Amino acid sequence: MSDVELLKKEAGIAACAFVTSGMKVGLGTGSTVKYTVIELGRMIAEEGLEIVGVPTSLATEQLATEVGIPLVELSDVSGLDVVIDGADEYDSDFQLIKGGGAALLREKIVAQESRAMVVVADDRKRVDSLGAFPLPIEITPFAYQSTIRALGRILDCRVNCRMAGDHPVFTDNGNMIADAHCGPTLTQPAEIEHAILGIAGVVQVGLFIDMCDAVVLAGQNGVETHLNPNGRLI
Ligand code: 5RP
Repeated sequence: MSDVELLKKEAGIAACAFVTSGMKVGLGTGSTVKYTVIELGRMIAEEGLEIVGVPTSLATEQLATEVGIPLVELSDVSGLDVVIDGADEYDSDFQLIKGGGAALLREKIVAQESRAMVVVADDRKRVDSLGAFPLPIEITPFAYQSTIRALGRILDCRVNCRMAGDHPVFTDNGNMIADAHCGPTLTQPAEIEHAILGIAGVVQVGLFIDMCDAVVLAGQNGVETHLNPNGRLI
């Protein structure tokens, strides 16, 4: 296992400390939180942990099923106790860029329905200003080139349609992803989120504003949990 993979595993497993029996848990998407999902499956099998999960993607649904986490529909429960998810970047105000795995819409719906959000990350994800990671934006297939042009105009940067080889990437919701190459300039992410959501054709943007309550961060010196001083876990 590479050094980065080991850090992801450490962060993913450490975040399970936020989960106790009886909880309804949002299960994020990505290569870090997959270790959380696997560990929760182990805790169910070996330690008698009793939880139900709501996955944020078809990939996580499959993994959670494989490791034995009972799943429920978000619509069938009155909110979740916690969601644990990855992030592509986070800043000192605990604002996030997510959507590198194209799951941002379901991730944001699940986060919005959760009483707390815990992010699992390795130390490459901490940034001073958001935006070096291309900002993912879920858009409708209808007139997607027009929507991409409109995004380019308001963001004043290059925006491209995410591709897998010769074909556009389609999300679990049948939409497409535009990636905006803003550079590390997103110092007012709430304003940017608002402007992007004002464009018809945009379904959702991967800026998660005032949603993250804690980051479980793995680095060379071990795992640290950083609580958002303005968050719900203080
Ligand atoms: C998927 C996401 C992921 O959580 C994000 O891309 C981080 O993934 P990883 O842990 O693989 O770096 O937002 O849409």
